[in-house]
Amino acid sequence: RKIILSGIQPTGTFTLGNYLGAVKNWRRLQEEYDCYYFVADLHALTVYHEPAARRKASREAFALLLACGLDPDESLVFIQSHVPAHAQMGWMLSCLSPFGDLSRMTQFKDKSAKHPEDINAGLFTYPALMAGDILLYQADYVPVGADQTQHLEFTRNVAARFNHVYGETFRLPEGYFPKAGARVMSLQEPTAKMSKSDENAKATIYILDDEKTILKKFKSAVTDSEAEVAFREGKDGINNLMTIYAAITGNSMEEITAEFAGKGYGDFKTTVGTVVAEELRPIRENYARLMEDKAYLDAEIAKGAERATHIAEKTLRKTMRRMGLA
Ligand code: TYM
Repeated sequence: RKIILSGIQPTGTFTLGNYLGAVKNWRRLQEEYDCYYFVADLHALTVYHEPAARRKASREAFALLLACGLDPDESLVFIQSHVPAHAQMGWMLSCLSPFGDLSRMTQFKDKSAKHPEDINAGLFTYPALMAGDILLYQADYVPVGADQTQHLEFTRNVAARFNHVYGETFRLPEGYFPKAGARVMSLQEPTAKMSKSDENAKATIYILDDEKTILKKFKSAVTDSEAEVAFREGKDGINNLMTIYAAITGNSMEEITAEFAGKGYGDFKTTVGTVVAEELRPIRENYARLMEDKAYLDAEIAKGAERATHIAEKTLRKTMRRMGLA
């Protein structure tokens, strides 16, 4: 069976972007493939958080993944730092990561431009750690949103370089993107990606938002002064709403245009908000239930750590041998 791997940072409640761009696919793929999904708490170390808050956030992210429908009996769900091989692999691969390539990563450039006072080495070598995550499990496909494309390309380059220098060791992974939803935009500034850390609360749908909040945010979504639900250049706000609607209903852009012909944006926004709220309701309910069962959650976290460690150690040892370490 093909191997699927992906991760998400525990830096707050997941957004609708995380869900439509990545996690929704993760759930779907678990029936057909061997899947590894993890909470990327080592990646989240690149930004300071209070230790207690960090610990809590990782646990909540783990619960959110299960609430989104990841089945820990079917997929291997774990917390990255519980598997030491990730940090070890990250270091080894950072030694095959060209400074020039790392310097060209747009995520690094964006983040360091935004917070020039807080650029640490971890932020810079982040892609090497991510390459390690993927290569440790010999993943075939990595289901992510469009913003991770460059990191995946980097991973393939590192893997190819390693294979060239030390002998055939790693499978070269490919990205796996949703048909619609690979890039969900801010509801307030539809040329920017929807993100967890947006200061404008109305810009982002969080997957634990209740129905009322979701509808309110969609009602105030920025659109344009035309009155036509059509997907085309210059209609960023409408394009984004159509993308979200398409990602949930599976309808094509033409079908959506036909459905809302002659109707106003108000109707359209309400319909999109309603299907989003419907989609997220079971997640919210599952999450509330999971957070009440501390023993279950603890047991699943421990189980994931043990199983993932076992698998990751195999590739780690092989990699070390190849490099002349073990
Ligand atoms: P992170 O935590 O930023 O995001 C998790 C996933 O959500 C996707 N995503 C989006 N998709 C569509 N529209 C959006 N607005 C949007 N925002 C986020 C991301 O593309 C991602 O798939 N570096 C990764 C975590 C990571 C990882 C890995 C992923 C660490 N190691 C190994 C894959 C494989 C990150 O920061 O994702």
